[in-house]
Amino acid sequence: MKDASPATPSQTIYLKDYTPPSHLVDSVELVFKLHPTQTRVISKIAFRPNPDAADPTFYLHGEQLKLIRASIDGQDANAKVTDLGLTAQAPDAPFLWEAEVEISPATNTALEGLYMSNGMYCTQCEAEGFRKITYYPDRPDVMAVFTVKIEGEEPVKLSNGNDLGDGTWHDPHPKPAYLFALVAGDLVNLHDTFTTRSGRKVDLNIYVRDGDLHKTPFGMDALKRSMTWDEEVYGREYDLDLFNIVAVDDFNMGAMENKGLNIFNSAAVLASPDTATDGNFHRIETIIAHEYFHNWTGNRITCRDWFQLCLKEGLTVFRDQQFSGDTRGHAVERISDVLQLRARQFREDNGPLAHPVRPESFVEINNFYTATVYEKGAEVIGMLKTLIGDADYYEGCDLYFTRHDGQACTIEDWLKCFEDVTGRDLAQFKLWYSQAGTPRVKVDESFHDGTYTLTFIQSTPPTPGQDTKDPKVIPIAVGLLNEAGEEIHATKVCEVTDEVHKFRFTGLEAKPVPSINRNFSAPIILERDQSNAERAFLLAHDTDPFNKWEAGRALARDVMVRMVTEDATPDQAYLDALVAVARDDTLEPGFKAMCFSGPSNDDIQQALVDGGVTPDPTRIFLTGQTLNLAISQTMQDLLPRIYAEMQVDGPYSPRSEDADRRFWGNAALAMLSRLDGGAQAAAQYASADNMTQQLAALGCLLRAEVGEAQNAAFYAQWKDDRLVIDKWFSMQVSHAKLAAAPAKAAELTAHPDFTMANPNRFRAVFGALAGNSAGFHEPGGSGYALLADWLIKLDAKNPQIAARMSTAFETWPRYDADRQGMMREALTRIQAAPGLSPDLSEMVNRILA
Ligand code: PHE
Ligand code: ZN
Repeated sequence: MKDASPATPSQTIYLKDYTPPSHLVDSVELVFKLHPTQTRVISKIAFRPNPDAADPTFYLHGEQLKLIRASIDGQDANAKVTDLGLTAQAPDAPFLWEAEVEISPATNTALEGLYMSNGMYCTQCEAEGFRKITYYPDRPDVMAVFTVKIEGEEPVKLSNGNDLGDGTWHDPHPKPAYLFALVAGDLVNLHDTFTTRSGRKVDLNIYVRDGDLHKTPFGMDALKRSMTWDEEVYGREYDLDLFNIVAVDDFNMGAMENKGLNIFNSAAVLASPDTATDGNFHRIETIIAHEYFHNWTGNRITCRDWFQLCLKEGLTVFRDQQFSGDTRGHAVERISDVLQLRARQFREDNGPLAHPVRPESFVEINNFYTATVYEKGAEVIGMLKTLIGDADYYEGCDLYFTRHDGQACTIEDWLKCFEDVTGRDLAQFKLWYSQAGTPRVKVDESFHDGTYTLTFIQSTPPTPGQDTKDPKVIPIAVGLLNEAGEEIHATKVCEVTDEVHKFRFTGLEAKPVPSINRNFSAPIILERDQSNAERAFLLAHDTDPFNKWEAGRALARDVMVRMVTEDATPDQAYLDALVAVARDDTLEPGFKAMCFSGPSNDDIQQALVDGGVTPDPTRIFLTGQTLNLAISQTMQDLLPRIYAEMQVDGPYSPRSEDADRRFWGNAALAMLSRLDGGAQAAAQYASADNMTQQLAALGCLLRAEVGEAQNAAFYAQWKDDRLVIDKWFSMQVSHAKLAAAPAKAAELTAHPDFTMANPNRFRAVFGALAGNSAGFHEPGGSGYALLADWLIKLDAKNPQIAARMSTAFETWPRYDADRQGMMREALTRIQAAPGLSPDLSEMVNRILA
């Protein structure tokens, strides 16, 4: 069955058109008679007219539903049904709506609404999936108490809230429909308990398919640590006696925060040492925390409308980043968060898909679960905290939790709490929510008579629909060092509010060396003429770990850019600086590894674009190879010792001390492998007793093009483990060079284990292709053509994933005429595909606009 092809043309929805709902819901009773292709959903909904309604017309959303019957107060409702919903004559007083619909979960390949995954029933309702389950006012500002009865053969039947037995569930907390969830299947569970600060004993369960139980303990531990953290840091306790997590193999996103019944992509919760890498463990911990934290920031207080998505997502990402920083160390966490922000959000914010953290219009809301809403949304919270200080930040949060508990809110509601606590006017701060684009801040400096003056000049480039921008308030943390490398002025936050804004530091003996935007206090691009000598100096001496790393990064970027644009040879000063980092015993292994993970191809591309140069991904790739070889050769004598010292004895643990040692040890292995033809990597592969070591070794071997035997052995060893086989698919594409990458991706789509029904598998191949810059952009255009073919195919089954993956094309305006032409051609071909979903067509139209 083909998914959503509405007869009505897709419409643009505007924030400014928001009106309150016509009716409110007091209670919802649902009965599910489960059947793969003929599930019946019987609903009893107590409505009452909303006194604040703008338009009293009774309207319910509903899509792909077969209406069996509908009544109002027992009388036939005479509903007028369209593809998108229905209207009926309703009394001007409270009334009972009763309806029965039929749906077909087994043929629901879009994975939105009620669908089946490996014989198990499950739901995904955010953002607008509940309307594929029954007729309902499917908007987040309609909140109701739900009672659910599930009828079916399945031994395990779950929904939100409390278990009343016999497949019946009651959720006492009023919630919007997007937080509804149902799961039924043959599942097993790991059980544990947690006692909240005020003594509530909570039963915790992680439900999985038989055979996956050994992969649940880490997730359970992460859940309990998240619960404790939210009590200690935000004073937030859990509010039900039961908290269930379910792992599902086929899932569009990472996970979903349904009240009391979180549903996870198996890749985002299941982990055992032999099947999951350190990176996987860390990601799982983050996602478990994120979904748990949503219980307060999202569920207890939700969004009035989908334009306010960052109200829950930006805040919850900020909270999960704080949690991760507390668990794994703030420096390494901040560096990884900024790497991710630059790779995904800066790229988005500086291309055709740029949009404000709070968008003002959309066609398909699923297209706005973006890096801008999530990651830039989190940065905005971080800036607020920096500007007002920790005490006022937490006081403002407390006010928000008490003032708005049980409500559906806006960004204005959120900001008002901080205005009330601090007495500050946050009108200018609010521009961070409404203006798209990454601000550029140019820095000038001068020194006279003991006074050092920093001048910041801000500007934000035009973005789609926003030609001009007003100056924002930008908190820029600055510290000063003297020539001896000593800190002579502790970190001070310069609040830049004007287009040109000066800050003076007085009483200095000599011109200092500034460390600017410490801890990445604002998500901006700094433009400053800085010598490589100064960068090397900061890499050696900065007391701010983020800026210490950043200096090395800037150095590396500059070296690469010069190699690419001026045919320069690898810079000796940079190589020496790396050796100094490697030798420095005061630095943590995780930090060292971060200093050695050089800028990505996309990073260099962004730097070139900023400098007015057209990037050539092929040339960048080849230059990177040259530089990496030079680094390895310079490090040659140190590598065996680093590698040996970083080996972790004893049984595997994902804890960060061990993970950071493996991280640095495997960075050394990668360098060694460029010199020894893969000998050490082959040895590590043969002896590895955990996935981190096994996969790192396989990566080195594939990169050296000597890993065929291990690649085959890996498949044979893991062919029954879907999550590991996803890695196998993805590794081969990531490590294939240039035009070999699209060729490998094409070859893998013919593998019997490839399927586009599973989003993880599709992403393993095509996400890896899009992430392999030099491969995806190989000058023959085979990457573009292949991805376009597959997006068209996938769109007919799963429009959300197809739309999401189309962002691989968002950088087309960067490139030379040939690449631009081929990328546009691929996009136009997608645009012209018959029956294209509104999701993918909105994306392609925006990318091409
Ligand atoms: N709300 C989920 C989260 O951020 C993400 C999600 C969105 C999942 C839409 C499914 C569908 O945790
Ligand atoms: Zn979220």
